[in-house]
Amino acid sequence: MRQAGRYLPEYRAIREGRTLLDLCRTPELACEVAMQPLRRFDLDAAILFSDLLVPVSALGIDFDIVEKRGPVLARPLRRKEDVTALPSPDLGAVSYVFDAVKALLAALAAERRAVPVLGFAGAPFTMASYLIEGEPSRHFQRTKLLMHAEPEIWALLLDKLSDLVVGYVREQVAAGAQAVQIFDSWAGCLTPADYRRHVLAPTRKIFTAIARLNVPSIHFASSGESLLPAMAEAGGDVLSVDWRIPLSRVRERFPERAVQGNLDPSALMAPAPVLERLAAEVLDEAGGRPGHIFNLGHGIQPEASIDNVARLVETVHARTRRG
Ligand code: CP3
Repeated sequence: MRQAGRYLPEYRAIREGRTLLDLCRTPELACEVAMQPLRRFDLDAAILFSDLLVPVSALGIDFDIVEKRGPVLARPLRRKEDVTALPSPDLGAVSYVFDAVKALLAALAAERRAVPVLGFAGAPFTMASYLIEGEPSRHFQRTKLLMHAEPEIWALLLDKLSDLVVGYVREQVAAGAQAVQIFDSWAGCLTPADYRRHVLAPTRKIFTAIARLNVPSIHFASSGESLLPAMAEAGGDVLSVDWRIPLSRVRERFPERAVQGNLDPSALMAPAPVLERLAAEVLDEAGGRPGHIFNLGHGIQPEASIDNVARLVETVHARTRRG
């Protein structure tokens, strides 16, 4: 999940007078903000600093990231021609992302932090929803309209996006990323039948491609329980879930997968003893068995308490590194 961000004063300082995209598009700055949380906390991984829509620049699509809202497009994709006219990806247009991965590896080595670098990308459904709605959405009505009314155009768009993501993560891995997380943050708005019909195949294509790169894949299936079997079928060595499902349920249903999650990020705003209890509950749910990556169930919020983040990392390490 996101571990960099506005809860850190040093992040706010570097963001002063710059946009989020400025940071994403300047490898030295992206590297610096990715290192910030690692300098404060004994975290177990570094996360590429970028954002979900960054790779669509390789398709010539223009977008912005608006503070407190998220990605916004001046010209959303709505018509058939908008989709058919998309060019094949020019990954050279986003080479700053791969340079950021390399810079991050170099900074970790220089600062003697032996942690892996995680790359990431959006899953085709979540990316398509931003491209079609043109802004963050609650009901995804235009997205679903295209999916239901123009299934061939929908399939073409998701296919183009999965090809983009495959090339994009391949370059991240070539640059040194040691695992890749695919975020399907908004697929939870779909019925399991629609997910299977319209989303599963292009998503699976990505996980099949990552498997060939010989790096572990993490599938963020923030969807609740009903969709989880279909999302698990699409792939992912690790199923990453939010706090709406107890980890014991995930382990029971998918005993062959590793799990990631799933502390509610608002626990980081709670009084320290409450935070510690909530973190202990997540660890209890995971059952003390290997194959659990402790994480938040979603990205960190600007209101998170820095002391609590430090306390959380210590609490988890104290229990998991014992013996
Ligand atoms: O720790 C890190 O370095 C993480 C890098 C990262 C960002 N976005 C940077 C960012 C990652 C992994 C993401 C993924 C992302 N972006 C997702 C998938 C994960 C999830 O949370 O479900 C999604 C849906 C987005 C799209 C997005 N970007 C939204 C909805 C927002 C929120 C708007 C806001 O201002 O809070 C963003 C902005 C964003 N992306 C921030 C960061 C650190 C917020 C800080 C800022 O504006 O500078």
